[in-house]
Amino acid sequence: MAMDMRMGALGALLLISLVHCFALSAAQDLPNCSFPAVYAFGDSLTDVGNGIGAFPEKFGNSEHNPYGVEFPMHPADRYTDGKLFIDFLAFGVRRRPIYPVLRGTNADFQYGTNFACSGAAARNVTYWSKDAGFYTPFSLDVQMKWRSRYQERLWFYEHLNGGLVQKLPFLNQTADSLYLVYAGYQDYFFSLYDSILTPRQALTIVPDVVQAISDHIEKLVTVQFFNPPPTDERVDLPIANNILVANLPPLGCIPAMLTQYQSATADYDSHGCLSELNKITSAHNELLGTTVVALREKYPEIKIYYGDIHGVYTDILKDPLSYNVTSPLKACCGVGGSYNFNKEVQCSYTGMVGNEFVNLTTAPCANRAAHLSWDGIHTSNTFNKAAATAFLTGKHITPEGGFNCSPDFKFWESRV
Ligand SMILES: *[C@@H]1O[C@H](CO)[C@@H](O)[C@H](O)[C@H]1NC(C)=O
Ligand SMILES: *[C@@H]1O[C@H](CO)[C@@H](O)[C@H](O)[C@H]1NC(C)=O
Ligand SMILES: *[C@@H]1O[C@H](CO)[C@@H](O)[C@H](O)[C@H]1NC(C)=O
Ligand SMILES: *[C@@H]1O[C@H](CO)[C@@H](O)[C@H](O)[C@H]1NC(C)=O
Ligand SMILES: *[C@@H]1O[C@H](CO)[C@@H](O)[C@H](O)[C@H]1NC(C)=O
Repeated sequence: MAMDMRMGALGALLLISLVHCFALSAAQDLPNCSFPAVYAFGDSLTDVGNGIGAFPEKFGNSEHNPYGVEFPMHPADRYTDGKLFIDFLAFGVRRRPIYPVLRGTNADFQYGTNFACSGAAARNVTYWSKDAGFYTPFSLDVQMKWRSRYQERLWFYEHLNGGLVQKLPFLNQTADSLYLVYAGYQDYFFSLYDSILTPRQALTIVPDVVQAISDHIEKLVTVQFFNPPPTDERVDLPIANNILVANLPPLGCIPAMLTQYQSATADYDSHGCLSELNKITSAHNELLGTTVVALREKYPEIKIYYGDIHGVYTDILKDPLSYNVTSPLKACCGVGGSYNFNKEVQCSYTGMVGNEFVNLTTAPCANRAAHLSWDGIHTSNTFNKAAATAFLTGKHITPEGGFNCSPDFKFWESRV
């Protein structure tokens, strides 16, 4: 009996190592990722400079220390300490970080363009602005119009101004490029942060937010056309064949939310997050997940990936030390309270907290890499890297295996 069990265990071990070898060699056989370009839509979790481009004062702090301390050579214009998820994703699929569509100087659009903007809701602005005090007019519908115009410009360059095209993808390459849609955080977060909606009310906007994301995806996979002068002939623009739809991190684990809704009577889950707020993101993610499944059925020839940002976040909360994270619920760049966040004096500003002068323009915390949240609102370089690493290695992503191409982590730590 004991012998049998040992044999069984040995057999299992052998099987495991066989499976492991097989998986490894399969991974080695994958072709290199080769999307011609990368495009992105969303809010401040994905904005690489459109916010500050359009509203230099409102988003001026994305250029102030210590934002972008991992980008010492130039202001990063990103709401994080280092790279955003989109930066890691673009590097990982063997491309360079993509530049904001509103960048007028020294941009490199060779490998795509980023349409995401801070303060951008998934729902259109007319619809959304009643739910928040803080927003910009560049919701997903506007970002889609920018994208169509971008494609029209490519057509003009190629057909009417031959030879003028320099360092841009060809229009036909926009078809097989990779498109990221990572939206909705703005819709929930700022409705709650500005106390326009209660958590219970925020739960009721889930269907509209997911519908807006779904509409966006459908526009990406439906042929748009235009009638360029002088002939006004109809020109069809390429659709997107590879779309990564990302879900949302758990709202109840975000330091700003934990601070604002902290109470002795609130329900906290085993990780110390606010259950009522987590219900909102869970409802969003669940509906988004079923929506993606339905879209895959409706458009079987399109690859629509679902990236489970929430799953990566929860994995880290379950075992933070394996990610070298020691402060999963505290902001790095912030001050005070249980979560190192204070609405009155935020990252990159100075001010008074009680009688104490606080200077948050440098040296935010002892170890940035130990935090999931950078400034109490936006995820950190550590989290963004973990999420991209997971998806690129086929974890927390569907369909099974993810992009099924060999990523490149060479530039993971590069400071560009
Ligand atoms: C994949 O890219 C690596 C560089 O990261 C290169 O050495 C290798 O030759 C490429 N493989 C193929 C099949 O192109
Ligand atoms: C905004 O979205 C709402 C709800 O989907 C829709 O009724 C309205 O027509 C949209 N407005 C604009 C300007 O697109
Ligand atoms: C894509 O467009 C470019 C420029 O018009 C052209 O040279 C190339 O052959 C096209 N590629 C395909 C696969 O059609
Ligand atoms: C955690 O830190 C150790 C020691 O510095 C390092 O070897 C390991 O790669 C780190 N793990 C992660 C997930 O960053
Ligand atoms: C905040 O700290 C930085 C770095 O020590 C310093 O340069 C800056 O003058 C300080 N700001 C204020 C208002 O004291």
